[in-house]
Amino acid sequence: MSKLIIGNWKMNVGVRESLALARAVLLGMRGKTFAPDVVVCPPSVALTEVRKAVAHSRIGLGAQNLFFEDVGAYTGEISGRMLAEIGCGYVIVGHSERRNLFGETDEIVKNKVLAALRHRLIPIVCVGENEEERKCGEAEKVVERQLRMALDGVRFSPHGCVIAYEPVWAIGTGNAGNPADVVRIHTTIWRILSELMERTLVDSVRIVYGGSINSGNSYAFLREQAIDGLLVGGASVKISQWSEILHTATQVIESQQ
Ligand code: PGA
Repeated sequence: MSKLIIGNWKMNVGVRESLALARAVLLGMRGKTFAPDVVVCPPSVALTEVRKAVAHSRIGLGAQNLFFEDVGAYTGEISGRMLAEIGCGYVIVGHSERRNLFGETDEIVKNKVLAALRHRLIPIVCVGENEEERKCGEAEKVVERQLRMALDGVRFSPHGCVIAYEPVWAIGTGNAGNPADVVRIHTTIWRILSELMERTLVDSVRIVYGGSINSGNSYAFLREQAIDGLLVGGASVKISQWSEILHTATQVIESQQ
């Protein structure tokens, strides 16, 4: 399977900068036979413009969040139905910034996963332990709880799902995880998924890693078979960093042909 590189632009760029970034991403992928699968997640106000820019390309479009109801009096919220209407294919769900800053519980995350799937959006479900939980040796336990809760009652269809393992202590800190530890957690995630869904569906799920990925450390993660790709935050809005990460992914894919 090819590697999947997701750029989470967060609230770091406006519409004009998003468009410029999207064009640069397009340019960087031109003419590449073994390019990785790429998904860009601009802020919601830029989704429509970025959609126009990446239409007819292989670049996927993702939103950074959605609300779990489809329609109603929910001031300020954006539904899966709306995201599908404007051409999104993916949506990030349960990012730790949403969990910690906006009070998203495991229950809310599950409802958002269900809402995404209702509208044929591929959910990028984020899980990961915080610093304290890591110190107590509870990383696997936390990831297992979050995953089981997020996927509870979810009926999967073959159009897919992405699980992003993002330890909270690694996000935006410059301290990326150790690839060997990440592989261990990814293997745990794979085992849990195997209990929750049929084998053929498990094989269609991509398990990616996120947390302080940059051009210097991306190879150490991408070369691992158990790591299907990366969710990149800060480095995804720095075009030279991003291009190098894509280049590294391309080299890894070529070497595995
Ligand atoms: P970071 O963010 O790459 O800036 O650590 C990753 C994320 O939050 O998805």
